[in-house]
Amino acid sequence: MLPKEIVTALNNQMNYEFEAAHSYLAMASYFSAHGYHGFANFYMVQAEEERFHAMKFYHFLVSMGERPHFKALTAPNNMHESPLHIAKQSLEQEQAVTRSIYAIMDLATEHKEHATIQFLHWFVDEQVEEEELFRDIIQKLSGISVGGDYFMMMDKEFAERKMH
Ligand SMILES: [Fe+2]
Ligand SMILES: [Fe+2]
Repeated sequence: MLPKEIVTALNNQMNYEFEAAHSYLAMASYFSAHGYHGFANFYMVQAEEERFHAMKFYHFLVSMGERPHFKALTAPNNMHESPLHIAKQSLEQEQAVTRSIYAIMDLATEHKEHATIQFLHWFVDEQVEEEELFRDIIQKLSGISVGGDYFMMMDKEFAERKMH
């Protein structure tokens, strides 16, 4: 049986991942509204990935004999200003998720909860990729003009992104 504290932490993280999905959809809508459908697709796929993360927590809780509990989602920022600003917010969001995963890992380590530690390793690796992804986009978007050639090339590339 999982310690209560760990159940709560895993459950919160599941809800947090759904919130991340919600937030990425709000970012997608900025791009949809501006006609940058490739970027919009990129963020919709990103939202799907977050939903997939949330469901990993769901299934782990079930496997451990626990019942997932759902909370109301915090409203995301619906008033984004620019693609670069969105990319910066994405990175900040991922960094916050990383901190949250690390905190659960610390808790699981404290309790010598090996199944949870094992389960969380996937997320530690995933967060390295997530942060790298947005750091890269920030770098590409810095100093280029929105709607310019390079930007439109990125838009075309992002139209190809699929859930892996
Ligand atoms: Fe995630
Ligand atoms: Fe993420």
